[in-house]
Amino acid sequence: MKNIIEGITADMRRAFAAAGYDEAYGQVTVSDRPDLCEYQCNGALAAAKRYHCPPTVIAKAVVERLSPDRYASAEVVTPGFINLNVSDSFLAEYLEQMRTSPQFGLEKTGVGKTVVVDYGGANVAKPLHIGHLRSAIIGEALKRLYVYFGYTAIGDVHLGDWGLQMGLIIAELQERNPDLCYFDEGYDGEYPKEPPFTIGELEELYPCASKKQKADPAFAEKAHLATFALQQGRRGYRALWKHILSISVADLKKNYDRLHVHFEQWLGESDADRYIPDMIRDLRERGYAVMSEGALVIPVSEEGDKTELPPCILVKSDGSSLYGTTDLATMIQRMRDFKPDKMLYLTDNRQALHFEQVFRAARKTGIVDDTVELEHVGFGTMNGKDGKPFKTRDGGVMRLERLLDDVTEFVLERSGDGRKLTESEASKIALAALKYGDLWNQPSKNYIFDMDRFTAFEGNTGPYILYTIVRIRSILEKYGEYERLPIRKPANSEAKEVMLAIAKLSSALENALKASSPSLICAYIYELAGSANKFYHDTKILTEEDAEVKEGYIALIGLAKRILETCIDILGFEAPDRM
Ligand code: ARG
Repeated sequence: MKNIIEGITADMRRAFAAAGYDEAYGQVTVSDRPDLCEYQCNGALAAAKRYHCPPTVIAKAVVERLSPDRYASAEVVTPGFINLNVSDSFLAEYLEQMRTSPQFGLEKTGVGKTVVVDYGGANVAKPLHIGHLRSAIIGEALKRLYVYFGYTAIGDVHLGDWGLQMGLIIAELQERNPDLCYFDEGYDGEYPKEPPFTIGELEELYPCASKKQKADPAFAEKAHLATFALQQGRRGYRALWKHILSISVADLKKNYDRLHVHFEQWLGESDADRYIPDMIRDLRERGYAVMSEGALVIPVSEEGDKTELPPCILVKSDGSSLYGTTDLATMIQRMRDFKPDKMLYLTDNRQALHFEQVFRAARKTGIVDDTVELEHVGFGTMNGKDGKPFKTRDGGVMRLERLLDDVTEFVLERSGDGRKLTESEASKIALAALKYGDLWNQPSKNYIFDMDRFTAFEGNTGPYILYTIVRIRSILEKYGEYERLPIRKPANSEAKEVMLAIAKLSSALENALKASSPSLICAYIYELAGSANKFYHDTKILTEEDAEVKEGYIALIGLAKRILETCIDILGFEAPDRM
Protein backbone atom coordinates (compact mmCIF):
# COMPACT_ATOMS: atom_id res chain seq x y z
CA MET A 1 0.00 0.00 0.00
CA LYS A 2 1.10 3.59 -0.59
CA ASN A 3 2.50 5.38 2.41
CA ILE A 4 0.37 8.27 3.61
CA ILE A 5 2.59 10.96 2.09
CA GLU A 6 2.55 9.23 -1.28
CA GLY A 7 -1.24 8.99 -0.98
CA ILE A 8 -1.68 12.68 -0.27
CA THR A 9 0.92 13.57 -2.88
CA ALA A 10 -0.99 11.56 -5.49
CA ASP A 11 -4.12 13.55 -4.68
CA MET A 12 -2.18 16.82 -4.81
CA ARG A 13 -0.63 15.95 -8.18
CA ARG A 14 -4.05 15.16 -9.56
CA ALA A 15 -5.30 18.53 -8.30
CA PHE A 16 -2.37 20.40 -9.91
CA ALA A 17 -3.08 18.67 -13.21
CA ALA A 18 -6.83 19.33 -12.96
CA ALA A 19 -6.08 23.01 -12.40
CA GLY A 20 -3.95 23.05 -15.55
CA TYR A 21 -0.46 22.89 -14.00
CA ASP A 22 2.30 20.37 -14.17
CA GLU A 23 1.55 17.61 -11.68
CA ALA A 24 5.23 17.45 -10.73
CA TYR A 25 4.60 20.38 -8.38
CA GLY A 26 2.37 18.26 -6.17
CA GLN A 27 4.97 16.90 -3.74
CA VAL A 28 3.64 16.85 -0.18
CA THR A 29 5.76 16.61 2.98
CA VAL A 30 5.12 16.32 6.68
CA SER A 31 4.68 19.86 7.95
CA ASP A 32 7.73 21.55 9.37
CA ARG A 33 5.36 23.68 11.45
CA PRO A 34 3.26 21.03 13.23
CA ASP A 35 1.67 23.84 15.24
CA LEU A 36 0.08 25.15 12.03
CA CYS A 37 -0.78 22.02 10.08
CA GLU A 38 0.01 18.32 9.61
CA TYR A 39 1.16 18.21 5.99
CA GLN A 40 2.20 20.83 3.49
CA CYS A 41 2.84 21.39 -0.19
CA ASN A 42 5.09 24.19 -1.43
CA GLY A 43 4.69 23.43 -5.14
CA ALA A 44 2.68 26.55 -5.99
CA LEU A 45 5.72 28.72 -5.24
CA ALA A 46 7.84 26.95 -7.82
CA ALA A 47 4.97 26.75 -10.29
CA ALA A 48 4.49 30.53 -10.02
CA LYS A 49 7.85 31.15 -11.66
CA ARG A 50 7.12 28.89 -14.56
CA TYR A 51 3.55 30.04 -15.19
CA HIS A 52 4.17 33.72 -14.37
CA CYS A 53 1.21 33.73 -12.10
CA PRO A 54 0.96 34.67 -8.39
CA PRO A 55 1.52 31.58 -6.22
CA THR A 56 -1.61 32.15 -4.15
CA VAL A 57 -3.74 32.09 -7.30
CA ILE A 58 -2.28 28.73 -8.29
CA ALA A 59 -2.57 27.38 -4.73
CA LYS A 60 -6.25 28.39 -4.52
CA ALA A 61 -7.07 26.72 -7.80
CA VAL A 62 -5.34 23.55 -6.65
CA VAL A 63 -6.97 23.47 -3.23
CA GLU A 64 -10.44 23.67 -4.82
CA ARG A 65 -9.67 20.49 -6.71
CA LEU A 66 -8.45 18.35 -3.81
CA SER A 67 -10.63 15.41 -2.74
CA PRO A 68 -12.76 17.14 -0.09
CA ASP A 69 -13.37 14.13 2.15
CA ARG A 70 -9.66 13.61 2.79
CA TYR A 71 -8.99 16.91 4.52
CA ALA A 72 -10.29 18.57 7.64
CA SER A 73 -8.75 21.74 6.23
CA ALA A 74 -6.75 22.76 3.18
CA GLU A 75 -5.57 26.34 3.48
CA VAL A 76 -3.63 28.66 1.27
CA VAL A 77 -1.26 30.87 3.24
CA THR A 78 0.96 33.61 1.91
CA PRO A 79 3.20 33.56 0.02
CA GLY A 80 1.60 30.43 -1.47
CA PHE A 81 1.96 27.43 0.82
CA ILE A 82 -0.78 24.86 0.98
CA ASN A 83 -1.32 23.75 4.59
CA LEU A 84 -3.21 20.52 5.10
CA ASN A 85 -4.89 18.79 7.97
CA VAL A 86 -6.22 15.36 7.14
CA SER A 87 -9.76 14.42 8.00
CA ASP A 88 -10.48 12.03 10.82
CA SER A 89 -12.14 9.57 8.49
CA PHE A 90 -9.21 9.53 6.06
CA LEU A 91 -6.72 9.01 8.89
CA ALA A 92 -8.80 6.23 10.44
CA GLU A 93 -9.16 4.47 7.09
CA TYR A 94 -5.46 4.71 6.47
CA LEU A 95 -4.60 3.27 9.87
CA GLU A 96 -7.19 0.54 9.55
CA GLN A 97 -5.51 -0.46 6.32
CA MET A 98 -2.16 -0.47 8.11
CA ARG A 99 -3.63 -2.55 10.91
CA THR A 100 -5.01 -5.20 8.59
CA SER A 101 -2.16 -5.40 6.08
CA PRO A 102 0.94 -7.58 6.41
CA GLN A 103 3.79 -5.51 7.86
CA PHE A 104 1.46 -2.54 8.24
CA GLY A 105 1.21 -2.14 4.48
CA LEU A 106 4.90 -1.52 3.94
CA GLU A 107 5.97 -2.02 0.34
CA LYS A 108 8.52 -4.82 0.31
CA THR A 109 10.87 -3.30 -2.22
CA GLY A 110 13.62 -5.82 -1.59
CA VAL A 111 11.87 -9.03 -2.64
CA GLY A 112 14.14 -10.96 -4.99
CA LYS A 113 17.20 -8.93 -4.07
CA THR A 114 20.20 -9.98 -2.02
CA VAL A 115 22.40 -7.85 0.16
CA VAL A 116 25.57 -8.91 1.93
CA VAL A 117 26.08 -7.07 5.20
CA ASP A 118 29.70 -7.23 6.33
CA TYR A 119 29.72 -6.33 10.00
CA GLY A 120 31.07 -7.44 13.34
CA GLY A 121 34.62 -7.71 12.01
CA ALA A 122 35.89 -9.58 15.05
CA ASN A 123 39.44 -10.87 15.13
CA VAL A 124 40.25 -14.37 16.20
CA ALA A 125 42.07 -14.78 19.52
CA LYS A 126 41.24 -11.24 20.55
CA PRO A 127 38.31 -10.63 22.88
CA LEU A 128 35.45 -8.47 21.65
CA HIS A 129 35.90 -5.00 23.02
CA ILE A 130 34.26 -1.65 22.86
CA GLY A 131 35.66 -0.97 19.38
CA HIS A 132 33.51 -3.81 18.03
CA LEU A 133 30.30 -2.64 19.61
CA ARG A 134 29.02 -0.20 17.02
CA SER A 135 29.70 -2.40 14.01
CA ALA A 136 27.71 -5.18 15.67
CA ILE A 137 24.82 -3.00 16.81
CA ILE A 138 24.38 -0.88 13.69
CA GLY A 139 25.10 -3.78 11.34
CA GLU A 140 22.55 -6.04 12.99
CA ALA A 141 19.88 -3.31 12.86
CA LEU A 142 20.52 -2.56 9.20
CA LYS A 143 20.50 -6.22 8.30
CA ARG A 144 17.16 -6.72 10.04
CA LEU A 145 15.80 -3.64 8.27
CA TYR A 146 16.79 -5.14 4.93
CA VAL A 147 15.06 -8.37 5.88
CA TYR A 148 11.94 -6.41 6.80
CA PHE A 149 11.89 -4.93 3.31
CA GLY A 150 12.01 -8.42 1.87
CA TYR A 151 15.68 -8.63 0.94
CA THR A 152 17.65 -11.80 1.40
CA ALA A 153 20.22 -10.38 3.76
CA ILE A 154 23.40 -12.30 4.43
CA GLY A 155 25.29 -11.10 7.45
CA ASP A 156 28.94 -12.07 7.35
CA VAL A 157 31.20 -11.51 10.35
CA HIS A 158 34.31 -11.47 8.14
CA LEU A 159 36.61 -12.74 10.84
CA GLY A 160 40.17 -11.56 11.06
CA ASP A 161 41.49 -15.14 11.09
CA TRP A 162 44.50 -15.03 8.80
CA GLY A 163 47.83 -13.39 8.46
CA LEU A 164 50.37 -12.26 11.00
CA GLN A 165 48.11 -12.43 14.03
CA MET A 166 47.95 -16.21 13.56
CA GLY A 167 51.70 -16.52 13.05
CA LEU A 168 52.30 -14.58 16.24
CA ILE A 169 50.20 -16.94 18.30
CA ILE A 170 51.79 -20.01 16.77
CA ALA A 171 55.31 -18.66 17.36
CA GLU A 172 54.51 -17.75 20.95
CA LEU A 173 53.00 -21.15 21.62
CA GLN A 174 56.07 -22.84 20.21
CA GLU A 175 58.34 -20.86 22.55
CA ARG A 176 56.27 -21.99 25.50
CA ASN A 177 55.58 -25.61 24.50
CA PRO A 178 58.17 -26.63 21.89
CA ASP A 179 57.41 -30.31 22.45
CA LEU A 180 53.84 -30.22 21.19
CA CYS A 181 53.33 -32.54 18.23
CA TYR A 182 52.11 -29.61 16.09
CA PHE A 183 55.70 -28.36 15.89
CA ASP A 184 57.23 -31.71 14.98
CA GLU A 185 57.62 -31.70 11.22
CA GLY A 186 58.22 -35.44 11.17
CA TYR A 187 54.92 -36.16 12.91
CA ASP A 188 52.39 -37.84 10.64
CA GLY A 189 49.83 -39.16 13.09
CA GLU A 190 46.46 -37.65 13.93
CA TYR A 191 46.43 -34.43 15.93
CA PRO A 192 44.58 -34.35 19.25
CA LYS A 193 40.89 -33.37 19.17
CA GLU A 194 41.29 -31.19 22.24
CA PRO A 195 43.10 -27.87 21.78
CA PRO A 196 46.31 -27.37 23.77
CA PHE A 197 44.97 -24.14 25.35
CA THR A 198 41.81 -22.56 26.77
CA ILE A 199 40.17 -19.35 25.58
CA GLY A 200 41.67 -17.58 28.59
CA GLU A 201 45.17 -18.72 27.65
CA LEU A 202 44.62 -17.84 24.03
CA GLU A 203 43.58 -14.32 24.89
CA GLU A 204 46.74 -13.93 26.94
CA LEU A 205 48.99 -15.40 24.21
CA TYR A 206 48.18 -12.85 21.57
CA PRO A 207 48.91 -9.57 23.39
CA CYS A 208 52.06 -11.12 24.78
CA ALA A 209 53.27 -12.16 21.34
CA SER A 210 52.31 -8.85 19.83
CA LYS A 211 54.41 -6.99 22.41
CA LYS A 212 57.34 -9.34 21.99
CA GLN A 213 57.33 -8.87 18.25
CA LYS A 214 58.03 -5.17 18.62
CA ALA A 215 60.94 -5.64 21.00
CA ASP A 216 62.48 -8.79 19.58
CA PRO A 217 63.34 -8.91 15.86
CA ALA A 218 64.23 -12.61 16.00
CA PHE A 219 60.78 -13.40 17.35
CA ALA A 220 59.17 -11.17 14.73
CA GLU A 221 60.99 -13.11 12.03
CA LYS A 222 59.80 -16.36 13.55
CA ALA A 223 56.21 -15.14 13.52
CA HIS A 224 56.54 -14.13 9.87
CA LEU A 225 57.89 -17.55 8.97
CA ALA A 226 55.09 -19.23 10.91
CA THR A 227 52.51 -17.11 9.08
CA PHE A 228 54.05 -18.05 5.77
CA ALA A 229 54.21 -21.75 6.65
CA LEU A 230 50.58 -21.67 7.79
CA GLN A 231 49.51 -20.09 4.52
CA GLN A 232 51.55 -22.66 2.60
CA GLY A 233 49.55 -25.32 4.38
CA ARG A 234 51.96 -26.86 6.89
CA ARG A 235 49.97 -29.64 8.57
CA GLY A 236 50.76 -28.99 12.22
CA TYR A 237 50.14 -25.25 11.89
CA ARG A 238 46.85 -25.83 10.10
CA ALA A 239 45.75 -28.11 12.91
CA LEU A 240 46.70 -25.50 15.51
CA TRP A 241 44.98 -22.78 13.54
CA LYS A 242 41.78 -24.86 13.46
CA HIS A 243 41.93 -25.13 17.25
CA ILE A 244 42.45 -21.39 17.59
CA LEU A 245 39.52 -20.79 15.27
CA SER A 246 37.09 -23.16 16.93
CA ILE A 247 37.82 -21.93 20.45
CA SER A 248 37.59 -18.28 19.40
CA VAL A 249 34.45 -18.68 17.36
CA ALA A 250 32.65 -20.44 20.20
CA ASP A 251 33.55 -17.60 22.52
CA LEU A 252 32.63 -14.91 19.98
CA LYS A 253 29.27 -16.54 19.33
CA LYS A 254 28.50 -16.53 23.02
CA ASN A 255 29.23 -12.82 23.23
CA TYR A 256 27.40 -11.88 20.05
CA ASP A 257 24.41 -13.92 21.26
CA ARG A 258 24.22 -11.79 24.36
CA LEU A 259 24.03 -8.75 22.09
CA HIS A 260 21.30 -10.40 19.97
CA VAL A 261 23.65 -10.30 17.04
CA HIS A 262 23.55 -13.31 14.74
CA PHE A 263 25.50 -13.91 11.57
CA GLU A 264 24.35 -16.03 8.65
CA GLN A 265 27.95 -16.62 7.65
CA TRP A 266 31.05 -17.07 9.75
CA LEU A 267 33.48 -16.61 6.91
CA GLY A 268 36.79 -14.98 7.42
CA GLU A 269 39.83 -13.58 5.72
CA SER A 270 41.18 -17.12 5.42
CA ASP A 271 38.26 -18.09 3.19
CA ALA A 272 39.31 -15.46 0.68
CA ASP A 273 42.87 -16.71 0.52
CA ARG A 274 42.26 -19.36 -2.11
CA TYR A 275 40.97 -16.72 -4.56
CA ILE A 276 44.05 -14.53 -4.30
CA PRO A 277 46.53 -16.27 -6.66
CA ASP A 278 44.07 -16.45 -9.58
CA MET A 279 42.89 -12.94 -8.93
CA ILE A 280 46.41 -11.56 -9.04
CA ARG A 281 47.29 -13.48 -12.16
CA ASP A 282 44.15 -12.21 -13.86
CA LEU A 283 44.62 -8.59 -12.80
CA ARG A 284 48.20 -8.66 -14.03
CA GLU A 285 47.22 -10.16 -17.36
CA ARG A 286 44.51 -7.64 -17.94
CA GLY A 287 46.90 -4.83 -17.04
CA TYR A 288 45.04 -3.54 -14.00
CA ALA A 289 47.73 -4.52 -11.54
CA VAL A 290 51.06 -2.78 -12.10
CA MET A 291 54.40 -2.62 -10.31
CA SER A 292 55.10 0.51 -8.34
CA GLU A 293 58.05 0.91 -5.98
CA GLY A 294 58.47 -2.82 -5.72
CA ALA A 295 54.82 -3.47 -4.89
CA LEU A 296 52.00 -4.72 -7.08
CA VAL A 297 49.21 -2.14 -7.03
CA ILE A 298 45.97 -1.08 -8.68
CA PRO A 299 45.99 2.67 -9.29
CA VAL A 300 42.62 4.10 -8.28
CA SER A 301 42.99 7.86 -8.48
CA GLU A 302 40.44 9.50 -10.73
CA GLU A 303 40.18 12.79 -12.51
CA GLY A 304 38.47 15.31 -10.33
CA ASP A 305 39.81 13.92 -7.04
CA LYS A 306 40.61 16.79 -4.71
CA THR A 307 43.58 14.93 -3.29
CA GLU A 308 45.32 12.07 -5.01
CA LEU A 309 44.05 8.72 -3.80
CA PRO A 310 46.89 6.28 -3.06
CA PRO A 311 46.75 3.01 -5.06
CA CYS A 312 45.23 -0.16 -3.70
CA ILE A 313 48.22 -2.37 -2.80
CA LEU A 314 47.82 -6.04 -3.71
CA VAL A 315 51.24 -7.49 -2.95
CA LYS A 316 53.94 -5.79 -0.91
CA SER A 317 57.59 -5.90 -1.96
CA ASP A 318 58.20 -8.74 0.55
CA GLY A 319 55.58 -10.86 -1.22
CA SER A 320 52.83 -10.62 1.39
CA SER A 321 49.31 -9.61 0.54
CA LEU A 322 47.31 -7.00 2.42
CA TYR A 323 43.95 -6.14 3.91
CA GLY A 324 42.74 -4.74 0.57
CA THR A 325 43.85 -7.86 -1.29
CA THR A 326 41.69 -9.94 1.04
CA ASP A 327 38.73 -7.62 0.62
CA LEU A 328 38.92 -7.81 -3.17
CA ALA A 329 39.23 -11.59 -3.05
CA THR A 330 36.28 -11.72 -0.66
CA MET A 331 34.24 -9.79 -3.22
CA ILE A 332 35.04 -12.46 -5.80
CA GLN A 333 33.82 -15.12 -3.38
CA ARG A 334 30.64 -13.16 -2.60
CA MET A 335 29.83 -12.49 -6.24
CA ARG A 336 30.31 -16.18 -6.97
CA ASP A 337 28.43 -17.60 -3.99
CA PHE A 338 25.74 -15.02 -3.24
CA LYS A 339 25.29 -12.93 -6.41
CA PRO A 340 24.36 -9.92 -4.30
CA ASP A 341 22.71 -6.74 -5.52
CA LYS A 342 24.49 -4.85 -2.83
CA MET A 343 27.42 -5.18 -0.43
CA LEU A 344 27.31 -3.10 2.70
CA TYR A 345 30.30 -2.73 5.03
CA LEU A 346 30.31 -1.43 8.58
CA THR A 347 33.54 -0.33 10.14
CA ASP A 348 34.69 2.76 11.92
CA ASN A 349 35.27 5.97 9.98
CA ARG A 350 39.00 5.44 9.92
CA GLN A 351 38.60 2.75 7.27
CA ALA A 352 36.80 5.08 4.86
CA LEU A 353 39.85 5.51 2.62
CA HIS A 354 40.48 1.77 2.56
CA PHE A 355 36.97 1.10 1.28
CA GLU A 356 37.11 3.93 -1.24
CA GLN A 357 40.25 2.31 -2.68
CA VAL A 358 38.82 -1.19 -2.63
CA PHE A 359 35.49 -0.11 -4.17
CA ARG A 360 37.21 1.75 -6.96
CA ALA A 361 39.54 -1.16 -7.62
CA ALA A 362 36.60 -3.57 -7.66
CA ARG A 363 34.64 -1.45 -10.14
CA LYS A 364 37.53 -0.68 -12.38
CA THR A 365 38.58 -4.30 -12.70
CA GLY A 366 35.05 -5.63 -13.07
CA ILE A 367 35.37 -7.82 -9.96
CA VAL A 368 32.02 -6.29 -9.09
CA ASP A 369 29.48 -5.49 -11.82
CA ASP A 370 28.31 -1.91 -12.27
CA THR A 371 24.83 -2.90 -11.18
CA VAL A 372 26.00 -3.99 -7.74
CA GLU A 373 25.83 -1.27 -5.16
CA LEU A 374 28.79 -0.90 -2.80
CA GLU A 375 28.43 1.07 0.40
CA HIS A 376 30.61 1.69 3.39
CA VAL A 377 28.90 2.94 6.52
CA GLY A 378 31.64 4.48 8.63
CA PHE A 379 30.83 5.18 12.23
CA GLY A 380 32.25 7.34 14.98
CA THR A 381 33.49 6.15 18.35
CA MET A 382 31.69 5.60 21.61
CA ASN A 383 33.40 7.94 24.05
CA GLY A 384 33.54 8.28 27.79
CA LYS A 385 32.49 11.45 29.56
CA ASP A 386 35.98 12.85 28.95
CA GLY A 387 35.26 12.80 25.22
CA LYS A 388 37.91 10.11 24.58
CA PRO A 389 37.19 6.53 23.48
CA PHE A 390 35.49 4.69 26.32
CA LYS A 391 37.84 2.88 28.73
CA THR A 392 37.59 0.85 31.90
CA ARG A 393 38.04 2.73 35.16
CA ASP A 394 41.72 1.84 35.26
CA GLY A 395 42.20 3.03 31.70
CA GLY A 396 42.21 -0.37 29.98
CA VAL A 397 40.28 -1.54 26.95
CA MET A 398 36.70 -2.34 27.92
CA ARG A 399 35.64 -5.86 27.01
CA LEU A 400 32.15 -6.13 25.62
CA GLU A 401 30.99 -8.74 28.10
CA ARG A 402 32.18 -6.52 30.95
CA LEU A 403 30.24 -3.58 29.59
CA LEU A 404 27.06 -5.65 29.32
CA ASP A 405 27.53 -6.95 32.86
CA ASP A 406 28.11 -3.45 34.18
CA VAL A 407 25.00 -2.01 32.56
CA THR A 408 22.87 -4.95 33.69
CA GLU A 409 24.19 -4.58 37.23
CA PHE A 410 23.45 -0.87 37.20
CA VAL A 411 19.88 -1.46 36.01
CA LEU A 412 19.35 -4.08 38.72
CA GLU A 413 20.65 -1.81 41.46
CA ARG A 414 18.60 1.07 40.23
CA SER A 415 15.41 -0.95 40.26
CA GLY A 416 15.45 -0.66 44.06
CA ASP A 417 13.78 -2.96 46.54
CA GLY A 418 10.14 -2.22 45.79
CA ARG A 419 9.92 -3.98 42.46
CA LYS A 420 13.19 -5.78 42.16
CA LEU A 421 13.79 -6.82 38.58
CA THR A 422 14.88 -10.32 37.70
CA GLU A 423 18.25 -10.86 36.07
CA SER A 424 16.59 -11.56 32.72
CA GLU A 425 14.40 -8.46 32.87
CA ALA A 426 17.39 -6.34 33.79
CA SER A 427 19.49 -7.69 30.96
CA LYS A 428 16.76 -6.92 28.42
CA ILE A 429 16.54 -3.37 29.74
CA ALA A 430 20.33 -3.06 29.72
CA LEU A 431 20.55 -4.18 26.11
CA ALA A 432 17.86 -1.71 25.10
CA ALA A 433 19.70 1.05 26.95
CA LEU A 434 22.98 0.28 25.25
CA LYS A 435 21.62 -0.26 21.77
CA TYR A 436 19.17 2.62 21.70
CA GLY A 437 21.81 4.92 23.21
CA ASP A 438 24.02 4.01 20.27
CA LEU A 439 21.48 3.80 17.46
CA TRP A 440 19.83 7.10 18.32
CA ASN A 441 22.95 8.83 16.95
CA GLN A 442 23.69 9.12 13.28
CA PRO A 443 26.25 6.38 12.64
CA SER A 444 28.98 8.78 11.49
CA LYS A 445 28.90 10.80 14.72
CA ASN A 446 30.80 10.07 17.94
CA TYR A 447 28.71 9.87 21.06
CA ILE A 448 29.20 9.80 24.80
CA PHE A 449 28.24 6.73 26.78
CA ASP A 450 26.30 7.92 29.80
CA MET A 451 25.17 5.04 31.99
CA ASP A 452 22.77 7.19 34.02
CA ARG A 453 21.06 8.76 31.08
CA PHE A 454 20.96 5.65 28.86
CA THR A 455 19.29 3.51 31.53
CA ALA A 456 16.73 6.08 32.71
CA PHE A 457 13.07 5.10 32.28
CA GLU A 458 12.20 8.68 31.34
CA GLY A 459 13.56 10.72 28.46
CA ASN A 460 14.88 9.71 25.09
CA THR A 461 16.08 6.24 26.04
CA GLY A 462 15.65 2.58 25.20
CA PRO A 463 14.07 1.80 28.59
CA TYR A 464 11.50 4.57 28.01
CA ILE A 465 10.42 2.84 24.79
CA LEU A 466 10.24 -0.51 26.60
CA TYR A 467 8.28 1.07 29.42
CA THR A 468 5.71 2.40 26.95
CA ILE A 469 5.28 -1.07 25.47
CA VAL A 470 4.93 -2.68 28.91
CA ARG A 471 2.35 -0.08 29.96
CA ILE A 472 0.28 -0.57 26.82
CA ARG A 473 0.43 -4.34 27.22
CA SER A 474 -0.93 -4.06 30.73
CA ILE A 475 -3.88 -1.92 29.61
CA LEU A 476 -4.61 -4.38 26.81
CA GLU A 477 -4.42 -7.30 29.18
CA LYS A 478 -6.97 -5.72 31.46
CA TYR A 479 -9.26 -5.13 28.51
CA GLY A 480 -9.12 -8.65 27.06
CA GLU A 481 -9.49 -9.66 23.39
CA TYR A 482 -8.61 -6.70 21.22
CA GLU A 483 -7.01 -8.11 18.08
CA ARG A 484 -10.09 -7.75 15.90
CA LEU A 485 -11.19 -4.28 16.94
CA PRO A 486 -11.09 -1.83 14.02
CA ILE A 487 -9.40 1.58 14.17
CA ARG A 488 -11.97 4.33 14.57
CA LYS A 489 -11.93 8.06 14.04
CA PRO A 490 -9.91 9.82 16.76
CA ALA A 491 -12.19 10.78 19.66
CA ASN A 492 -9.82 13.38 21.06
CA SER A 493 -6.76 15.35 20.01
CA GLU A 494 -4.35 13.06 21.90
CA ALA A 495 -5.66 10.08 19.96
CA LYS A 496 -5.20 12.01 16.74
CA GLU A 497 -1.58 12.74 17.68
CA VAL A 498 -0.96 9.03 18.11
CA MET A 499 -2.59 8.34 14.76
CA LEU A 500 -0.52 10.95 12.95
CA ALA A 501 2.62 9.51 14.50
CA ILE A 502 1.69 5.97 13.50
CA ALA A 503 1.03 7.06 9.92
CA LYS A 504 4.69 7.99 9.49
CA LEU A 505 5.91 4.40 9.86
CA SER A 506 6.55 3.53 6.22
CA SER A 507 8.39 6.74 5.44
CA ALA A 508 10.48 6.41 8.58
CA LEU A 509 11.57 2.89 7.63
CA GLU A 510 12.13 3.81 3.99
CA ASN A 511 14.27 6.78 4.95
CA ALA A 512 16.26 4.73 7.45
CA LEU A 513 17.00 2.18 4.74
CA LYS A 514 17.94 4.82 2.20
CA ALA A 515 20.24 6.63 4.61
CA SER A 516 21.58 3.43 6.24
CA SER A 517 20.68 5.11 9.51
CA PRO A 518 18.69 3.26 12.19
CA SER A 519 18.62 6.59 14.04
CA LEU A 520 15.60 7.51 11.89
CA ILE A 521 13.74 4.51 13.33
CA CYS A 522 14.69 5.66 16.84
CA ALA A 523 13.35 9.14 16.11
CA TYR A 524 10.13 7.59 14.85
CA ILE A 525 9.52 5.37 17.88
CA TYR A 526 10.46 8.14 20.24
CA GLU A 527 7.76 10.33 18.74
CA LEU A 528 5.25 7.49 18.74
CA ALA A 529 6.04 6.49 22.33
CA GLY A 530 5.74 10.14 23.39
CA SER A 531 2.31 10.56 21.85
CA ALA A 532 1.13 7.20 23.17
CA ASN A 533 2.27 8.11 26.68
CA LYS A 534 0.48 11.42 26.54
CA PHE A 535 -2.61 9.70 25.23
CA TYR A 536 -2.94 7.10 27.97
CA HIS A 537 -2.06 9.58 30.69
CA ASP A 538 -4.67 12.12 29.63
CA THR A 539 -7.42 9.77 28.48
CA LYS A 540 -9.50 7.42 30.55
CA ILE A 541 -9.31 4.34 28.41
CA LEU A 542 -10.57 1.41 30.46
CA THR A 543 -13.25 3.47 32.20
CA GLU A 544 -14.56 5.08 29.02
CA GLU A 545 -18.32 4.58 28.99
CA ASP A 546 -19.03 4.78 25.28
CA ALA A 547 -18.22 1.24 24.15
CA GLU A 548 -17.41 2.27 20.59
CA VAL A 549 -15.05 5.03 21.66
CA LYS A 550 -13.39 2.64 24.08
CA GLU A 551 -12.92 0.05 21.35
CA GLY A 552 -11.35 2.69 19.17
CA TYR A 553 -8.90 3.59 21.92
CA ILE A 554 -7.97 -0.01 22.51
CA ALA A 555 -7.51 -0.72 18.81
CA LEU A 556 -5.30 2.33 18.55
CA ILE A 557 -2.94 1.44 21.40
CA GLY A 558 -2.95 -2.14 20.20
CA LEU A 559 -1.64 -0.96 16.84
CA ALA A 560 0.88 1.36 18.48
CA LYS A 561 2.16 -1.52 20.59
CA ARG A 562 2.57 -3.86 17.62
CA ILE A 563 4.46 -1.19 15.72
CA LEU A 564 6.75 -0.38 18.63
CA GLU A 565 7.48 -4.08 19.10
CA THR A 566 8.25 -4.46 15.42
CA CYS A 567 10.57 -1.48 15.41
CA ILE A 568 12.57 -2.54 18.45
CA ASP A 569 12.88 -5.98 16.94
CA ILE A 570 14.43 -4.37 13.87
CA LEU A 571 16.74 -2.39 16.15
CA GLY A 572 17.70 -5.66 17.82
CA PHE A 573 16.27 -5.61 21.33
CA GLU A 574 13.07 -6.69 23.08
CA ALA A 575 10.77 -5.69 25.91
CA PRO A 576 10.62 -7.60 29.21
CA ASP A 577 7.23 -8.72 30.60
CA ARG A 578 7.35 -6.16 33.36
CA MET A 579 9.49 -3.26 34.43
N1 ARG B 1 38.66 -7.23 11.25
C1 ARG B 1 38.66 -5.87 10.78
C2 ARG B 1 39.15 -4.93 11.89
O1 ARG B 1 39.27 -5.32 13.03
C3 ARG B 1 37.31 -5.41 10.32
C4 ARG B 1 36.78 -6.13 9.10
C5 ARG B 1 35.78 -5.31 8.35
N2 ARG B 1 35.35 -5.93 7.11
C6 ARG B 1 36.04 -5.97 5.99
N3 ARG B 1 35.54 -6.62 4.96
N4 ARG B 1 37.20 -5.36 5.84
O2 ARG B 1 39.41 -3.77 11.59
